[in-house]
Amino acid sequence: MKSLDRSLRSRPPTKRRRSPAAVANHRRLAARDARMRRFGYDASAGVKFVMAQALPLEGSVLEIGTGKGRFLSALAPRDASVTTLDISAEEQRYARLNIEYAGVKNRVQYVIGDAACLPWPDAAFDAIVTMNAIHHIPDFQRVLEEMRRVVKPGGKLVLADFSPRGFQIMARFHRSEGKIHECHRCDFSDLRKRLRDAGWTTRYRKGKMQELLVGWRPGVPVQSSKSNPVS
Ligand SMILES: C[S@@+](CC[C@H](N)C(=O)[O-])C[C@H]1O[C@@H](n2cnc3c(N)ncnc32)[C@H](O)[C@@H]1O
Repeated sequence: MKSLDRSLRSRPPTKRRRSPAAVANHRRLAARDARMRRFGYDASAGVKFVMAQALPLEGSVLEIGTGKGRFLSALAPRDASVTTLDISAEEQRYARLNIEYAGVKNRVQYVIGDAACLPWPDAAFDAIVTMNAIHHIPDFQRVLEEMRRVVKPGGKLVLADFSPRGFQIMARFHRSEGKIHECHRCDFSDLRKRLRDAGWTTRYRKGKMQELLVGWRPGVPVQSSKSNPVS
């Protein structure tokens, strides 16, 4: 028995198998993130900031705007059932590769669809999060209505986007790539007012690169929540 234990201990760690597509996707994403950092935006610091403000995230969590899966790669390993929605199948393909590269074991449900018309019944999720997608959506008020509809009473919304400084940097970054940064910016004080007028508890945070609003839907939480809303 002892010799078996020793042989197990001395066995080299099994190498994670990643597809060539996942490795190539990771290299592309890492190179882009490095370029963004040179312009002054640190994508992983942004994800950390938003995640710290969003926690706890438990039960069923919906992400709006999968993108290339930067926030998803921090969300997916958590102890929650994660669904992510994006209007672009191509973006979700990159996100799947990103999750494969990260070696996340939890199952993520990928849904292609328009956030203005969510394919779930009322009160389907404990929490809904969105990071850096709001400015891509021309009619975010419509999407906000949908998010409010599908979150459970006592559940929360996490709305995160670039701060004014973050937008400046992203505009310069996109210009350097010969592109224009698509930008339908939302006024966070207006979003906050809308939620408060509807009886929601809210908490606003502004970081250097990210702005963020957490809102708790009024009502009795369906399951015990460790969240600590601050008005
Ligand atoms: C910058 S990406 C989001 C970044 C992502 N959350 C991350 O952390 O990597 C914005 C995404 O929003 C998606 N999007 C834009 N309009 C949408 C809509 N109406 N419904 C769902 N997704 C939408 C775009 O396809 C794009 O993938």
